[in-house]
Amino acid sequence: MLPIILSSLLSLPLLTTAIPHPNPQSPNCIPLTLSISLTAPSYPLLLPAIKNGYDATSLLLAFTGRDASSDPSALLGPPTNITVPLSISALYCTPTTHYNPQKAPKLQLLTHGLGFDKTYWNFGAPKTTYNYIAAATAAGYATFSYDRIGTGLSSVEDPYNVVQTPVELALLTHFTEQLKAGTLSHLIPKPSKLVHVGHSFGSILSNALIATRPELSDGVVLTGFSHNTTFEILFQISTGFHLASENQPARFGKRSSGYLTWGDKYANQYSFLKYPNFEPAVLEDAEANKFPFTVGEFITFGKVPYAAPEFKKPILMIDGDSDLIFCGADCTGILDGPYSVSPQLFANAEPLAFYLQPDTGHGMNLHGNATGWFAVVNDFLDKHV
Ligand SMILES: *[C@@H]1O[C@H](CO)[C@@H](O)[C@H](O)[C@H]1NC(C)=O
Ligand SMILES: *[C@@H]1O[C@H](CO)[C@@H](O)[C@H](O)[C@H]1NC(C)=O
Ligand SMILES: *[C@@H]1O[C@H](CO)[C@@H](O)[C@H](O)[C@H]1NC(C)=O
Repeated sequence: MLPIILSSLLSLPLLTTAIPHPNPQSPNCIPLTLSISLTAPSYPLLLPAIKNGYDATSLLLAFTGRDASSDPSALLGPPTNITVPLSISALYCTPTTHYNPQKAPKLQLLTHGLGFDKTYWNFGAPKTTYNYIAAATAAGYATFSYDRIGTGLSSVEDPYNVVQTPVELALLTHFTEQLKAGTLSHLIPKPSKLVHVGHSFGSILSNALIATRPELSDGVVLTGFSHNTTFEILFQISTGFHLASENQPARFGKRSSGYLTWGDKYANQYSFLKYPNFEPAVLEDAEANKFPFTVGEFITFGKVPYAAPEFKKPILMIDGDSDLIFCGADCTGILDGPYSVSPQLFANAEPLAFYLQPDTGHGMNLHGNATGWFAVVNDFLDKHV
């Protein structure tokens, strides 16, 4: 018995290594709070607001059971244009090396996925190996990351009729237009090139951007994403549609019942992480600092287009080989291969490249060797943009 107890005691310090959060500010980054009056199409939800946890569970069953409609648009009324005042928190970072202040840098516009805020992109401290922004700025790029509506330090809006996919696409389009023109903030110079990098739901939005406004992007990197929606149901079921207000009352107690999350760190691991290629402290941190998703986002995924035949610039689709949500935990043949429709949807991308990162789940940044795939992305952009 004793050696077993001893060795488990000895391994304790490893388990409790703290991942600093929120991120200590990097000197090359400027936090911004942006006030925007956004006009966008919204699809009125025809279902009543969720009353309580029982009601949320019942809704999950309605979405996933035998009699679930495969077409959620039955739950939506015809779109109307809404105008909402938003406060969006963003972070602009300048290159740390390969930087010529006389020459405008290329800019990566980073959009995070469900369950996170913008700190997904600089997870942990500036020097951790999970920090995408540190890798991109060291490779000579500027970055612009932002908290999507209802996450991080951005304003919390109606989770039924405002926090919807088309509204978030309108926000990304707005930022892209303004950044490209150099008019978003006097602190952000007009970039020489602008590329979009998304994670998961952020990839859905980046994909929809080049499908609707192909002229606005010089290149796209879609991470934690495929065009196969067969396995999203596993994610939905694993969340159990917990009310965020009940799950983390200290952080989300005042949120509407339309803000949902999963139950605990093991549900988080199931959807986001490939065991054992992550530090337990990273999972603890991701769970403690997670952000909820909304009913409106879920129901409107299909209300933005994916086919981007007019887009003729570079696209890299890169995913963990074990992504649960977009591949059912095995991406072989799904990202690129017999089960992939991506080559048809991106018929004129030049080039269109695919990459599977080994031993990695959906939350790609949070795994061991994340710097390995960060380098794949920056090499691709160096070569093609
Ligand atoms: C919403 O606004 C857009 C852009 O002005 C317009 O093209 C569209 O017809 C409007 N939609 C509705 C339902 O009013
Ligand atoms: C998703 O991948 C599975 C393979 O597991 C395949 O059977 C299915 O047709 C694919 N779906 C789509 C929409 O590509
Ligand atoms: C880390 O990732 C890179 C990029 O995918 C890969 O080339 C390398 O083999 C990986 N290293 C390990 C130890 O898995």
